[in-house]
Amino acid sequence: MLTLNPPLGTSDLIPTRIAYGCWRLAGSEGGPRVEAEDGKRAVRAAIEAGVNFFDHADIYGRGQCERIFGEALKDMPGVRAKLILATKCGICPPWDGRQHSYNSSHAYITTSVEDSLRRLGVEQVELLMLHRPDYLGDPAEIAGAFDQLREQGKVRWFGVSNFKPSQVQALQSAMDVPLIVNQVEISLGALACLDDGTLDHCLSARMTPLAWSPLAKGRLAGTPENEHEAQLFAALDATAVRHGVTRAAIAIAWLLQHPTRMVPIVGTVNPARIKEALAADSVALSRDEWYALLIAARGAKLP
Ligand SMILES: NC(=O)c1ccc[n+]([C@@H]2O[C@H](COP(=O)([O-])OP(=O)(O)OC[C@H]3O[C@@H](n4cnc5c(N)ncnc54)[C@H](OP(=O)(O)O)[C@@H]3O)[C@@H](O)[C@H]2O)c1
Repeated sequence: MLTLNPPLGTSDLIPTRIAYGCWRLAGSEGGPRVEAEDGKRAVRAAIEAGVNFFDHADIYGRGQCERIFGEALKDMPGVRAKLILATKCGICPPWDGRQHSYNSSHAYITTSVEDSLRRLGVEQVELLMLHRPDYLGDPAEIAGAFDQLREQGKVRWFGVSNFKPSQVQALQSAMDVPLIVNQVEISLGALACLDDGTLDHCLSARMTPLAWSPLAKGRLAGTPENEHEAQLFAALDATAVRHGVTRAAIAIAWLLQHPTRMVPIVGTVNPARIKEALAADSVALSRDEWYALLIAARGAKLP
């Protein structure tokens, strides 16, 4: 079974060290459609492997991913109470001629959550995140929407995604309850958060980072497309052989070792790959191994 992480931020939510992301349950953008049955099978595989933390967004699969998850839950009585369900809102994609924008107005947030609850078939989600910072977002208005959702029992805790530390601080300053997570892109293929203050701020603000696309949208598990990737993948493969797991598991284990106790969000819909990725939980990289992978990922020596 998977190990539990410390609580998310200062909340009472205790997730498994690795979460499952539901973005691809209805198929990847531009990729082949995933049949609803395959999406449900992925959810079941993650739950049976012990994952208790699931990440959604209102826009994933145009709502279809939350629906598939809700259907999978219906087939597993008694399971819902053991899960931490998270969803996000605030991105308005350019679908059907609509203007691409971000919206964190009171009306948008509350309506989006009500729609998500209906699709998921639950009364409450444990966590709601704003999907991206909205340039027109008013912290006081957002805090008001969050308060209303909390008082109505529809959402227990709140967080953000893709926020810079200053954006987190601006929102937090208007809120009475703590933001508990910042869901950010971090992997051996996307290192910016490590150096731009985002993770440092999570440490000082006692927020838990959630790592999206921990395999760089699958790139880290694929074939190298240039010399830099060839060297990184060779370093990952050598480490994987030493630990008796896959390259994907090593890339995820590398994230688990960060002192923020970040939670990587695995996104494959393939049950065998879900299991392989979760094997990261049992890998402890040495400090030398961790730094060797960082250097290979940067393609440059340490200063
Ligand atoms: N907040 C945000 O802005 C944001 C943005 C992106 C993602 N997310 C969250 O992060 C989650 C994970 O993102 P992601 O799906 O891009 O994660 P990922 O784990 O980096 O990539 C998963 C993709 O890699 C492919 N893949 C190829 N070989 C694989 C292997 N050996 N093991 C595992 N996967 C392999 C998978 O295909 P198969 O399914 O065919 O295995 C899948 O398409 C999402 O579900 C979502 O919850 C959040």
